[in-house]
This record gives sequence, structure tokens and C-alpha cells, in this order.
Amino acid sequence: MPSNKKLLVLPGDGIGPEVMAEVRRVIDWMGRRRAVTFDIEEGLVGGAALDAEGSPCSDATVARAKAADAVLFGSVGGPKWDGLPFEKRPELGILRLRKELGLFANLRPAVVLDPLVEASSLKPDLVRGLDIMIVRESTGGIYFGEPRGIHTDAKGRRVGVDTEVYSEDEIARVARVAFDLARKRRNKLTSVEKANVMQSGRLWRAVVTEVGRAEFPDVELEHMYADNCAMQLCARPKQFDVILGSNLFGDLLSDLAAALTGSLGMLPSATLGAVDPATGKRHALYEPVHGSAPDIAGKGIANPCAQLLSFAMLLRWSFGLEEEARLVETAVERVLAGGLRTADIMQPGMARVGTSVMGEAVVRELEKLAA
Ligand code: IPM
Ligand code: MG
Repeated sequence: MPSNKKLLVLPGDGIGPEVMAEVRRVIDWMGRRRAVTFDIEEGLVGGAALDAEGSPCSDATVARAKAADAVLFGSVGGPKWDGLPFEKRPELGILRLRKELGLFANLRPAVVLDPLVEASSLKPDLVRGLDIMIVRESTGGIYFGEPRGIHTDAKGRRVGVDTEVYSEDEIARVARVAFDLARKRRNKLTSVEKANVMQSGRLWRAVVTEVGRAEFPDVELEHMYADNCAMQLCARPKQFDVILGSNLFGDLLSDLAAALTGSLGMLPSATLGAVDPATGKRHALYEPVHGSAPDIAGKGIANPCAQLLSFAMLLRWSFGLEEEARLVETAVERVLAGGLRTADIMQPGMARVGTSVMGEAVVRELEKLAA
């Protein structure tokens, strides 16, 4: 069946291809049972692309990503490529895609599912029902700021330089995404920076305040220093609804929030660009928060849930398929409630299974939900 939904699938390295195979099962099911179909192209990224195409993300791949309605991304990197020069790191694959597609808003939900309350590093009471959304700026800040590099100074010493730089429009556009999300959730936004020591942090706080006053006066806005936010996330995580931060602070805080949920193997993310006023479309990339996990790659034991839940976000954000997104999310939750666990979330008394058994179980639950 022809489809107007163009997907570029980039499984990448390590466990990426293994967990992506389980998404393909769910995609097949969607076509069969819900008549939701996609035009799918597959490409290489990261180390796999370095080996085959000489670059972690080729121009051709960037062009295909731009032509697609959505990109589903696995993970990149591994020991095989660790010794390569900086410009050849597999990680540049994802950074290039974010930059070239203008994907400035990285949405990272940290949700504690009921069946996994015990898997959290915190006491169950602190995390039961936890539902936080971290909005991380993802095309600016210290990841891309100039000047950067390692040079030798007048005294012959090596000096490493990175630059945290944000313009007001870069701050405002990601702030709008965060405010908008808060409005659809519990109406509270916590914006984090280090305005006490950083100039870019002072501007960040000022611009977020202005956007809030002018466009979202109904959303409760709170400012917090990023270090305090890290502490508060561990001490009293349920005070948060949406957290907004720079590329670097968002990176750090989203890993911390991931630990609260008990497994990195469960967390999806979406990275969105601006809506094109002419077409109403936006570039978007969906990826699990976890990496390529080289230590368990090839063993068939990786948790496919984060990749499956990333696909659910894709259904919701790129195609407005809320019902289908909920189906996938509910199916995952029911499989967990039924006692199946991959190694990363294994608990006493549960049944330990591998990647494909988990994927098959999700499809079985989908079948029951749709019946
Ligand atoms: C992430 C990762 C990446 C980042 C790396 C792989 C470049 O840590 O997506 O959180 O720092 O953005
Ligand atoms: Mg990270």
C-alpha cells in the first residue's frame, strides 16, 4: 500500500540494530492490523557508516533524513572506533543530524512505570507515578560554540577551549516548546542554568522570563540553578513537571532522571525542529536515551523497550497518531506487568527474557488490545 509517511531508519551500532528489529515487528503489525503504513528507507550511521562510507553520517544520509517525515535512530559508537581522531567519532553522526536538520528541542521523558517502581535507585515512595519531561536545547551551546579546540599558548602549554554561547532567539524558541508542553501537562516549567556564574545563564534566565510573561502567563515558571536541580531530582523528583535546560545541562540532567526510572533501557526521546509555516511539517528524530551498549551487543539480551517507546513518540509527534502511540505504550507496560524482564530490569520472581521474546510479547499484547 502506498504511504505518505516517509521514515528513515538508522539502526547504527551495537545493540541499535537488535532493538530496531523489534520495532520492525511492531511496524509490520501496524500495517496489518491498523492499516497504518510507512515508506521505509534504511541507512547507516555512526561506526557502521564510518566503516562503509568513510564518515559517521554521509551527505547522502543527511539528504535522505531531510527528505523523510521522521528519522528513527538507534545508537552509535563502540570500542572498535574509540581510537579514531575527534572528527571521525561515531557520535558525530547524531550531532550532525541534529545540527543539519535544525533539531533544537530534545524531549526526554522520564517516567516510572508502575511495574518498575522497585527498579529505581530511589525509595519507591519517592518515584511512584513519577512523570517528568526534560526539554534539552540540542543544536547550540557548548556542543557547537566557537572558539573551540586545543591549542598551545605563549608559554608552550596546551589549552583546551569550549564555548558556551546562546543567542536570545535560540533560547526563546526552545523555551516556547517547553512552555507549550507544560501547558498540556501539569502547567509547571522549571528552567535551569547557572545564572550565578555564567553570562549565557543570565541571558537564559532573562529570555525565558520574557517569553513566559508575554506568551505563557498561565504557566507557572520557576528558575533553578542546574546543580540544585540535580540535587532536587534525587531528593524530591516529583516536584518537577517540565525541566528546560541547555544542551549540556539537559544532557547531564536527563541521564540523572534516567537513573530515577530504574533503567536507561526504558527511556525514549524525540528531537524536534521548527514547524515549517508553509507545510506545517517539522523535521524530527526519535532515539532511545541509551547508547549502543557494546558490552552486551550481539547477545540478544538488550531491552528493546526504549526503541519501541521512541517509535511511539514518533507516531504521536510526527503523525498525530495518538491512539496508535498509546497502544504501543500500553502494550509495553502490560508486558512488564505480566512479569517479563530483560536483564537490565530483572527483578526477583520475574521471568528473564531476551530482546526478541520481549518484542514478540509486545506484539501479542498489541493484538489483545486491538481485539
Ligand atoms: C545523548 C548523548 C550524546 C550527547 C552523545 C552520544 C554525543 O550523550 O544523546 O545524550 O551528548 O548529546
Ligand atoms: Mg547524554
